[in-house]
Amino acid sequence: MSTPEERRAAEAANRAKERRREGLYAESEPFWKEEFPLTSAGEEYVQRREFTRYLLGASAAFAVGAVGAAAWANLQSANEGEPQAIIADDRIAPSSEYLFNYPTDKDPALLIRLPDGELRAFSQKCTHLGCVVYYQPEHERIFCPCHHGVFEPSTGDATAGPPERPLQKIDIEVRDGMIWAKGVQI
Ligand code: FES
Repeated sequence: MSTPEERRAAEAANRAKERRREGLYAESEPFWKEEFPLTSAGEEYVQRREFTRYLLGASAAFAVGAVGAAAWANLQSANEGEPQAIIADDRIAPSSEYLFNYPTDKDPALLIRLPDGELRAFSQKCTHLGCVVYYQPEHERIFCPCHHGVFEPSTGDATAGPPERPLQKIDIEVRDGMIWAKGVQI
């Protein structure tokens, strides 16, 4: 006594045999061709259609990715950090530094008064491997003791040693006698 599945399989095999006899399928064609009777031209059409659909999908995904990346880059170029009072303007003399934390309590930062009285603020993290940097007014430089990295104090640009990127800048403003950090340039 055969099961329904066995009966269905036997019927399909018989149908396939009849079709082969009628010359509709080559002997080498697999049984599934009977259930999904695509000619090779049809197969090619389906493949082309699938491929076109795949290309359109990939293009759309790429476009969405590009827009997302641009939006992310825009966000990244925006300043980050809440305004924060650093120190009274008259408490930092020319050719000196004041250490503070910004934008969070865990981010060491450096406020510098240049010899000409201009103020600059940078992240204190060296852009090589993250050691803390110090202002050395006697050498007119910001210095990283770890691998002797050197940065230009008025721009934060890397000028010697292993660092290749400038120090991260912090926007500052003097308002009512107080120096404020206004955001980190990313
Ligand atoms: S960590 Fe500053 S020079 Fe290497």
